[in-house]
Amino acid sequence: MRLALIIGIFAAAALGLSACGFGEEKLAVSESDPNHSGAVLFATHCSGCHTLSAAGTQGSGNRGERTQGPNLNQREESFDDALFAIQNGGFSGAIMPQNIVVGEEAKAVAKFVAKYAGSEAEQSPRPGETKAP
Ligand code: HEC
Repeated sequence: MRLALIIGIFAAAALGLSACGFGEEKLAVSESDPNHSGAVLFATHCSGCHTLSAAGTQGSGNRGERTQGPNLNQREESFDDALFAIQNGGFSGAIMPQNIVVGEEAKAVAKFVAKYAGSEAEQSPRPGETKAP
């Protein structure tokens, strides 16, 4: 049931991408940038649920759905946190699938997220955090 949901999201994301020419041209990270591969991986694997303008994933079609992940323009993430989220499926482990990318790819995405997330960050403590960062 959950798998069907996830496949649905990926299908929706794929549709969204093809509608705008695979989206890659909107990457804010140039090919010579060491974070380019992380940005591409993010755009292809994470954009269905997360907004992050550096990856050109502004506004996904399913905004407002329960599966929608946090807008990463508005959250600072450290490399360790991003890698933890990738390996564990977010921090709650409830909705985000685990290990969408693994190994070097996971590290590349985490590096990219750590560098580019939080460009519009306000004080937005994560669930369970008592004080603002
Ligand atoms: C099926 C939708 C979905 C996909 C795909 C997805 N995420 Fe998430 N993600 C979520 C949801 C929902 C949360 C918030 C709930 C939680 O933390 O468990 C989250 C949380 C996160 C967080 C923690 C944010 C915070 O500060 O609370 C990070 C970082 C993150 N995701 C990164 C990624 C990366 C990188 C990818 C691609 C490898 C990805 N996500 C793919 C849904 C998704």
